Amino acid sequence: MTMTHSSDLDIRSLGVVGAGLMGTGIAEVAVLSGLPTVLVRGTGRAPEEARGRVERSLERRIARGSLEREQAGAALARLTVTGDRDALAAVDIVIESIVEDLEEKRALFLDLARRAVGGVLASNTSTLCLRDLAGPGYDDRLVGMHFFSPVPAMSLVEVAHLPGTRPDVERACRRLVERLGKTPVSVVDSAGFVVNRLLVPYLIGAVAAFAQGLAGQIEIDTAMKLGCGHPMGPLALCDLIGLDVVFAMAKLLHKEFGDQRYQPPALLRRMVQDGQLGRKAGLGFYDYRAGTPVPSAGLWELVSGQLGDAGAGAGGVGRAGHDVGIIGGEVARAG
Ligand SMILES: NC(=O)c1ccc[n+]([C@@H]2O[C@H](COP(=O)([O-])OP(=O)(O)OC[C@H]3O[C@@H](n4cnc5c(N)ncnc54)[C@H](O)[C@@H]3O)[C@@H](O)[C@H]2O)c1
Repeated sequence: MTMTHSSDLDIRSLGVVGAGLMGTGIAEVAVLSGLPTVLVRGTGRAPEEARGRVERSLERRIARGSLEREQAGAALARLTVTGDRDALAAVDIVIESIVEDLEEKRALFLDLARRAVGGVLASNTSTLCLRDLAGPGYDDRLVGMHFFSPVPAMSLVEVAHLPGTRPDVERACRRLVERLGKTPVSVVDSAGFVVNRLLVPYLIGAVAAFAQGLAGQIEIDTAMKLGCGHPMGPLALCDLIGLDVVFAMAKLLHKEFGDQRYQPPALLRRMVQDGQLGRKAGLGFYDYRAGTPVPSAGLWELVSGQLGDAGAGAGGVGRAGHDVGIIGGEVARAG
């Protein structure tokens, strides 16, 4: 880490652990902003896989006309993909973006401290408390840096610190976020930070409203888009995030706060058990398998069958064949 003056740190190189959806996105915006970046993939994963994800995303930018090919080449030249955590020894900050599991993340930080990785340590956790990730040897340089998906497009990063985090570390992280072209918002360390604490009750409220027959998928999504100015309705957003992820977040926040607003509805649990996980599974509140999404026809039967009368109240407004609407910018006709 470079000292700019007596009390400030300057982050000039970056490490990312976890080469999934978020980790590759963070690495992409870092190399595009000029920072040499080491991306550490999980064991058993080929380096070409992670590099390929970044390359494909840069190609999409070139196709859209927002990036020159030479700039993409220069960005890729700043990216090192490896399976070796010792390659992180000299970077100024390591952002972990591995699986959302307390024990895995803690073990990773302890391992980095044991390997004398001396820079700032940051977690991209969605729902865990930073204090539970703290450990000896790095408590004063641990922060939360919560990015949003897809990282190249979303401009918010929540920055959380512990009471013992050095103020210069937090300031350096905020400047890093700005260098990545994003806006930092400082938040207190708390499960779900601001966005997920407020978003999860909204999403599962929409699931419960659907299960109770208040309205069909398209009606609920259209109501929230046109009535509240949201770019996407809550059920389409559940599908985009992944119903397993929404369910896991709700369960964790419910456990943390003991507040009924976070209790996952039975329908959400049942859809996760059935593998109806949203876009990534091809089926969730909408059916994506034919290309243009339409309301999932089988879901209505699942609601009626699994939840008794609860799903029948809206007179079947969500049944396939009845509705036309806009999902995430696409016009969809059911059935
Ligand atoms: N998906 C989102 O919308 C989103 C948004 C904000 C934050 N997050 C958080 O980001 C983190 C990663 O989420 P994701 O969506 O990228 O998941 P993902 O499943 O796409 O990626 C996780 C990656 O971590 C790797 N991994 C797992 N354990 C590892 C280890 N011990 N060492 C190295 N690599 C390891 C896996 O192989 C996988 O490639 C999670 O903490 C998640 O809560 C996700």
